[in-house]
Amino acid sequence: MVKIAVLGFGVVGSGVVELIDINHDKIARSAGEEVYVKYILDIRDFKDNPYENRFVKDFAEIEKDPEVSIVVETIGGARVAYDFTKRSLMAGKSVVTSNKELVSEHGCELLEIAAQHNVSYLFEASVGGGVPILRPIISCLSADEIEEVYGIVNGTTNYILTSMIKDGVSFDDALKDAQRKGYAEHDPSADIDGIDTCRKMCILADLSFGKNIAPASVPTQGISGVDGLDVAYAQKASANIKLIGRTVKLPNGKIISYVAPHVLLKDNLLANVDGVFNGVVVRGNATGETMYYGKGAGKLPTAAAVVSDVIESAKCKCGSNLISWDMAGDEITGEVNDLSDRWYIRAEIDADEASVTFGDIEVLGSDGQGTAFITREMTGYECAEKLENINAFAVYRVLGNNA
Ligand code: HSE
Repeated sequence: MVKIAVLGFGVVGSGVVELIDINHDKIARSAGEEVYVKYILDIRDFKDNPYENRFVKDFAEIEKDPEVSIVVETIGGARVAYDFTKRSLMAGKSVVTSNKELVSEHGCELLEIAAQHNVSYLFEASVGGGVPILRPIISCLSADEIEEVYGIVNGTTNYILTSMIKDGVSFDDALKDAQRKGYAEHDPSADIDGIDTCRKMCILADLSFGKNIAPASVPTQGISGVDGLDVAYAQKASANIKLIGRTVKLPNGKIISYVAPHVLLKDNLLANVDGVFNGVVVRGNATGETMYYGKGAGKLPTAAAVVSDVIESAKCKCGSNLISWDMAGDEITGEVNDLSDRWYIRAEIDADEASVTFGDIEVLGSDGQGTAFITREMTGYECAEKLENINAFAVYRVLGNNA
């Protein structure tokens, strides 16, 4: 029997306990032995909870118990969770987590500590909720040089955008709904402002390219500036506006990562990834494009990813799981403006002026304010130069079928 402790009894932590109960026999078969939740750590009281007698408030009790071999950290944040993770690893316990903030900020160091103590630090649930994405990158695509990863990796913002665009729900109502369903972060501005997407893209970049990408180095724009008018114009081109995180490795070794709303044309693989669903496209130099799709947030999908790591850790008696990446300096960071794409622009000019300035364009429509159009492919620098003397209301990169 493998005995585990669950730190934090929020949406994900309670989902882990519930799933181990619901799928008890299947999980035991996969792990090769029964998985038993010995402790649940939370500062709150849970009276009349079926697991009431397993709750503890003092982490030292778990830390000192040699029977506990795996700690599930679902506290979130990078303070208490960092301390408890470090202490667990140093006490010779493997740690499994869904905590994207902690992994993106301190993953490199925590993996080193895990390796030193011959235990695992696993975090499949930190990106894409229930979507299997990290293990495919680590294992299945390990023979590829990965050139690009991009995707919709925040369920809350995708749920909000889809509800607004397809069901005509207001931003505030869609957000409340996402909170009720357990998708949103404790402070939902981490979702809305793109911070959560940024953290997840850093983890994807770390694993794909083997270099540490710090969240603070990634230009990040959220969805609060997305205007209904642009949504309507995009739809005229059968396109959708989605919050995309993207990380690209250039042939010179530089890595460009950023988060921003994009216009996704209908032939893009992610154009119809709606609601709480996430989608991630990975381009390798041998395999080409592969896509990963599923529920990106929510109690049981995320818990399933966490428990799959518990099983992985229980099976891997050898300890260290051989995941690592190197610390890196600013020298590896490339300029976002170097990337060439088509652009969606809505600006205070008429269609003729737009085509004189931008050349070949696809006009989506005009209104009292100006014109919305899609340009040919050009770098961010070239686009910015052309926009210098123009009053632009919205500028988004456009992603089509780039397979
Ligand atoms: N708030 C996150 C999201 C939870 O909406 O994607 C899953 O990481």
